[in-house]
Amino acid sequence: MVEVELEDLPGVGPAIAEKLREAGLTTLEAIAVASPAELVATAEIGEATAAKIINAAREAADIGGFETGEKILDRRESIGKLTTGSKSLDVLLGGGLETCAMTEFYGEFGSGKTQIAHQLVVNVQLPEEQGGLNGSAIMIDTENTFRPERIKDMADGLGLDYREVLKNVHVARAYNSNHQILLVEKAKELADELRDTDKPVRLLIIDSATAHFRSEYVGRGTLSDRQQKINKHLHDALRFGDLNNAVVMITNQVQVRPDAFFGDPTRPIGGHIVGHTATFRIYLRKSKGEKRIARLVDSPSLPEAEAVFTVTKAGIRD
Ligand SMILES: Nc1ncnc2c1ncn2[C@@H]1O[C@H](COP(=O)(O)OP(=O)(O)OP(=O)(O)O)[C@@H](O)[C@H]1O
Ligand SMILES: [Mg+2]
Repeated sequence: MVEVELEDLPGVGPAIAEKLREAGLTTLEAIAVASPAELVATAEIGEATAAKIINAAREAADIGGFETGEKILDRRESIGKLTTGSKSLDVLLGGGLETCAMTEFYGEFGSGKTQIAHQLVVNVQLPEEQGGLNGSAIMIDTENTFRPERIKDMADGLGLDYREVLKNVHVARAYNSNHQILLVEKAKELADELRDTDKPVRLLIIDSATAHFRSEYVGRGTLSDRQQKINKHLHDALRFGDLNNAVVMITNQVQVRPDAFFGDPTRPIGGHIVGHTATFRIYLRKSKGEKRIARLVDSPSLPEAEAVFTVTKAGIRD
């Protein structure tokens, strides 16, 4: 697949491209579905130029026309599924984490987000018959919680050579939110390099997707700025998934809502911005001992349901 840059659109120079990106219009798809007025306001261009740019984006992104349901079904059939290691969690997800989609795991500390991330990094390397995607993994680690020792435990649990497994795990520590955004670009480069090898990149993890943004953007005035940056970042990650037929998995903490009088007083950070981008959202809760409860929250095609799984020394299990 060839990636068309914003700058390739007629009438878009570096300055306009920069303004569009700053406004969160980072992809052809985003521009294709924007209104001319929106472009006029964000890029300070005339209405005619805006219309021309949008039309070109629609053509380049192949958006805006009709296609048959059959064609969409064919495309859906190329989508892969990655096992979590737990049958019940896989069932909850409709067979595992989907490629070309973003799955968000959110929950409080110790709920198992990072453990699942580690397990996926191992599982993605398995052949398809065993629930893997026969690929390698990229992990953007924002909290310095990647542990090769845990990969060893989990590789041992599956009878794999942990050194071989670790060779196919590409980890980068993100030092702040801008660095984190940049690392998705780097991930694209790495995926391009590995595309024709025997272990192409089939998994991108961002653990945690929101922590840096949360700590850097404090106060109400900066909130919309923060949401815009998160929005752009997540769309970049989603696009990575589309380009590489890869699973995109992100983690997110919850914050306590002091104004909640009943129900669960927690909600995911980044709220609806993350919610709209993630195709699958899983809310994790701690239960007794190794037990965890996963709840599927607003999925496009699956019912809301819960699953129980465990976090063991050997990894994620039923
Ligand atoms: N070697 C191990 N054997 C068994 N269980 C483990 C092992 N390592 C970690 N765990 C379990 O995983 C929990 C930590 O989960 P994890 O790091 O995934 O949390 P998290 O959801 O990422 O939290 P945070 O929000 O702090 O990042 C531990 O509390 C423990 O219950
Ligand atoms: Mg964690």
